[in-house]
Amino acid sequence: SAVEYGLDAPFSVEYHDSIPSTNARARDLAADGASGTVVLADEQTGGRGRLDRDWSSPSGGVWLSVLFRPDVPMAHAPVFTLAAAVAVTRAAREAGVEASIKWPNDVLVRHGDGERKLVGILTEMEGEADRVSWVVVGIGVNANVDPADLPDEADPTSLSAERGEPVDRRLFTQRLLEEFDALRQDPADVVEAWREYATTLGQRVRVETPGGTIEGEAVDIQFPGALVIETESGTEIVSAGDCEHLRPI
Ligand code: BTN
Repeated sequence: SAVEYGLDAPFSVEYHDSIPSTNARARDLAADGASGTVVLADEQTGGRGRLDRDWSSPSGGVWLSVLFRPDVPMAHAPVFTLAAAVAVTRAAREAGVEASIKWPNDVLVRHGDGERKLVGILTEMEGEADRVSWVVVGIGVNANVDPADLPDEADPTSLSAERGEPVDRRLFTQRLLEEFDALRQDPADVVEAWREYATTLGQRVRVETPGGTIEGEAVDIQFPGALVIETESGTEIVSAGDCEHLRPI
């Protein structure tokens, strides 16, 4: 509940016990001219994921959206998704959970039998090609929730399930926002930080894109967030926005 927060965050924080979607609320605030705002909720009743999917957001999670107005061209905005993935991975590791990043925007925990999803990130933006007007980075962390209460298809896990006890959401959220704030101000360093936590690099992968399926070895990531894949017929570069699905093969 609200009492658990009392954040000393580098953004002004608007807290809701329950709200349809923190991203939708942040977009409304953007339309009103706001900036440097975090919308945080204990529960979302209409959470949204990538590709217009539902995002299940029961009470106990950390569902938040960061609204800011970076001075960058639209094409650079995907770097903020990577920054969020790095920030949340660091905060999870400090909480004792060995999270890592699956390109472009999933934070996972590896288990013997595969990977389970801990976090989802949804970045939205508006502006002109040469300069974004605003960016909303939505971060959904399965914090103190029972994975059994989340949809099976995502193969979900949570911080509390991994730790065997609840996480201090105030501390976790504060560390997440501090890391994100530092990274967003240094976009050029984000790619390097990202490589440290990536499970994707070195894997053979199959990526579904609007232009078709690409298969090969994921060898690197390029600013602002594209994946470099060596295929039999040469090098392919897939932008984060074009990834509909990525599977190790
Ligand atoms: C995905 O993996 O598909 C992305 C999920 C993003 C969920 C977060 S929770 C906070 C913010 N508000 C939303 O409605 N979605 C994002």
